[in-house]
Amino acid sequence: MPIGNAFLTVSVVLWTWGSICLFSVIFSQSTISTPNITPDSSGLVCSQPGPVGPGGIAGVPGSPGAMGQMGSSGEDGPDGIDGVRGEKGERGESGSPGKRGKSGVKGRKGVYGKVGPPGLRGLHGAPGLMGQQGAKGELGDRGSQGASGGCNCGSPARSAFSVAMTKRYPKEERPIHFSRILLNEGNHYNTSTGKFVCVIPGVYYFSYDITVANRHLAIGLVHNGQYKIRTLDSNSGNHDVASGSTILQLQNSDQVWLQIYNIGQNGLFFDPFWTDSTFTGFLIYADQDYLNEAERKANAKKKKKTVYKIIFHLYDHLHG
Ligand SMILES: *[C@@H]1O[C@H](CO)[C@@H](O)[C@H](O)[C@H]1NC(C)=O
Repeated sequence: MPIGNAFLTVSVVLWTWGSICLFSVIFSQSTISTPNITPDSSGLVCSQPGPVGPGGIAGVPGSPGAMGQMGSSGEDGPDGIDGVRGEKGERGESGSPGKRGKSGVKGRKGVYGKVGPPGLRGLHGAPGLMGQQGAKGELGDRGSQGASGGCNCGSPARSAFSVAMTKRYPKEERPIHFSRILLNEGNHYNTSTGKFVCVIPGVYYFSYDITVANRHLAIGLVHNGQYKIRTLDSNSGNHDVASGSTILQLQNSDQVWLQIYNIGQNGLFFDPFWTDSTFTGFLIYADQDYLNEAERKANAKKKKKTVYKIIFHLYDHLHG
């Protein structure tokens, strides 16, 4: 830097500083009207400032300034201490009832109840077992005598026979001889003639069961030479059975037999191992006249006997 310029610069600085000094003195005298401050003449000399003087007496406090603008609100302070517990309030109104709770656990079984009234009467039971047989009772009183019996016949009126064949295919139109005797009560069936001969007059039953084989069978029951019933069996297979039966009123010495009534139709069969042909007859009941006569004869015999007995006893008594 050239010297000329440096000189100019110092001049300007000094001038500036002096101006400021002067101005500040004037200004301070007009604005600060404190009586204590007396501007020193020496002070007016604008030179280099001296050291700071001692502090002045404190001035009278100024009047309070106008209220400043309201500052922004500060931060919240810390919570205060809890206050004292207040008095108990009045009882409030009762609330609405709550919802129904869940059902509880099942309780224990209760104690047995009292005995009930007796039931209805039961049905009648089944009868019990039969008791043991009691002891035999005492003999009862003798009863009064009964009425006299009806029939007092001497000989019993019995007649019955059943006979069987022992040959096949008998000769036609002649009495058939049944040789095997199953029963012949009274012997009224004559095996040598093949005829039943009535001894006791009465009503008789006759029947026949004839096995048929290989031929037709035309058989009839004959009473005193006359056919009473006939049976015809046309043999259509191997074997068959022809039968017939009737009831006849017979007199004493009447005759009854069986006979083939057609030539060549004598298919009566017999086999000792598996089939028979039979002829049967019996007395159903005897004629009453016959029974009465028989009774009369029997009583007559009894009377004779009794008379003989009495005579014998007398004789015995006289000569004993
Ligand atoms: C059987 O008949 C024959 C001939 O008529 C006779 O001689 C015989 O005495 C009879 N028999 C009986 C038991 O009646």
